[in-house]
Amino acid sequence: MTEAELYTEYKGVYLPTQLHPQESLKYYEEFIFRHDDILIVTYPKSGTTWMQEIVPLVQSGGDLTPVLTVPNWDRVPWLEEHRACVLNLEQRASPRLFSTHYHYNMMPASFFTVKPKVIYVMRNPKDVFTSSYHFYGMASFLVKPGTQDQFLQKFINGKGWLNAKDQDRTMYISYEEMIFDLRDSVSKISQFMEKSLDSEVIEKITDHCMFKNMKQNKMSNYSLVPNEFMDHNKSEFLRKGITGDWKNQFTVAQAEYFDAVYKKQMKDIKYKFVWD
Ligand code: A3P
Repeated sequence: MTEAELYTEYKGVYLPTQLHPQESLKYYEEFIFRHDDILIVTYPKSGTTWMQEIVPLVQSGGDLTPVLTVPNWDRVPWLEEHRACVLNLEQRASPRLFSTHYHYNMMPASFFTVKPKVIYVMRNPKDVFTSSYHFYGMASFLVKPGTQDQFLQKFINGKGWLNAKDQDRTMYISYEEMIFDLRDSVSKISQFMEKSLDSEVIEKITDHCMFKNMKQNKMSNYSLVPNEFMDHNKSEFLRKGITGDWKNQFTVAQAEYFDAVYKKQMKDIKYKFVWD
């Protein structure tokens, strides 16, 4: 399929049509939040699946049942994804847990009036690029990445959630912080979710969410997705789970080019990123 056939343009952003048909975009726009909903926001490949494991475990007080019995895409569904309309999200008990890859200015109207909680996960963009490059090679619903240089041209873009209003309802956390100290991250997430958990429970969640352990969970490692959609022989979804893999992926010239564009595009962002 050509790029034009694979993608739909929505509010200036290209979305894979297979995942976001018109009816799901309509459902998304009309979605009514509750104040105690928790929305995990990520740019794809920044640690969505990881957070879709941690947050339900904090919510369940460390009971592993939800993460061992329900696939991550139904456990913490993407609001904009085609499955959202069939999951009866309106019937779910509070606090409901959702994910989104959408930008701040793409949020449905009720987001701005109801103000649900947001956990915004960031990751070094060069590692996001690296993870994406492998993912685009294995996922059939995305355009083929082409050469690394071609993919780099497409990849360079973006801004949004760091300028969000109501930042007291938003927790900003990076993939790097989670790698550096997962236990402390789980503890901060539980505070943000207003769940007070014993240190043994925090320990149990941390242990379960370590890369090597989460990789074994078929409800979270995407092994349930047929090879036709994600070719697990080309790349695993839970691929390496480290920081700095970009150093194995970029040429010196590509890294310099990336840094120059990054510097220019991020000049107005006041936020101090751990990778800078
Ligand atoms: P890599 O491809 O660099 O390994 P997303 O879920 O947003 O699509 O992000 C996927 C990335 O998060 C992949 O990165 C994946 O391996 C990593 N990841 C998922 N669970 C993780 C965990 N428990 N610890 C560390 N990294 C994890």
